[in-house]
Amino acid sequence: MTTPALSLENVTCTFVSRDDRTQRYTAVRDTTLTIEPGEFVSVVGPTGCGKSTLLNVSAGLLAPSTGTVRVFGAPLEGINTRAGYMFQAEALMPWRNALDNVIAGLEFRGMPGAQAVAEGEEWLRRVGLGGFGDRYPHQLSGGMRKRVSLAQTLILDPDIILMDEPFSALDVQTRQLMENEVLDLWAAKRKAVLFITHDLDEAIAMSDRVVVLSAGPGTRPIGEFNIDLPRPRDVAEVRNQPRFVELHAAIWDVLREEVLKGYAQQRKVA
Ligand SMILES: Nc1ncnc2c1ncn2[C@@H]1O[C@H](COP(=O)(O)OP(=O)(O)O)[C@@H](O)[C@H]1O
Ligand SMILES: [Mg+2]
Repeated sequence: MTTPALSLENVTCTFVSRDDRTQRYTAVRDTTLTIEPGEFVSVVGPTGCGKSTLLNVSAGLLAPSTGTVRVFGAPLEGINTRAGYMFQAEALMPWRNALDNVIAGLEFRGMPGAQAVAEGEEWLRRVGLGGFGDRYPHQLSGGMRKRVSLAQTLILDPDIILMDEPFSALDVQTRQLMENEVLDLWAAKRKAVLFITHDLDEAIAMSDRVVVLSAGPGTRPIGEFNIDLPRPRDVAEVRNQPRFVELHAAIWDVLREEVLKGYAQQRKVA
């Protein structure tokens, strides 16, 4: 047996309400989730169920109330330095051009400037932005900014890649291009990926395994599906395969009710 790249063991996350300190909300309850080295795992679940909470726990940005997180077998304390993250929100520094954004992490690590620039330019080429290094974020399209973020994350060569709905703000075509790009880059390096999404099609098209979360409070995994579609995959084309349709139906069968519960809760809160 190999040591998992990432494992969450009986993780529970309880928050104290900001408005009323006596109120507690348990977002995630008793969740166990393992990702093997090289495995691409997606977690799907209704909006507000606790997906980002699980990602933040995996990144070491949030300590679970109870339970353990292990990174290649070692208990995680503080920030997960083996992981790179890509979040839904824009995380580029507006005062730095694309190249300087891409190499920011290398600079923080103390890599000499010339070497960092050479690696940064190589990564910009790899994500299809060769020649765009001197553009500032506001001079780039949404898809291009995502490419810069991707290069910024992958240039550090993390063993674990954590992505929280990274492409949800993009139009469908750009999104599919980005998804294919991520799959190509992943195939070359085979890192462990935890990919959070509320989009089941995206989850199936990208992953080796899809984990379904229940609606909150007390979210936990309620289904797990191996995605036995052949690779390499084109995310747009794979959707037409009969096996994709079959998997989609099976997973949606588990997810549908949770999505409805999730909507009901959001309406109560609103
Ligand atoms: N820091 C926090 N303090 C209080 N409640 C929080 C905090 N972070 C998340 N929550 C609550 O936990 C639940 C899950 O949030 P989140 O993980 O962001 O959901 P998702 O990413 O699945 O949409 C939500 O009800 C949210 O309001
Ligand atoms: Mg979220």
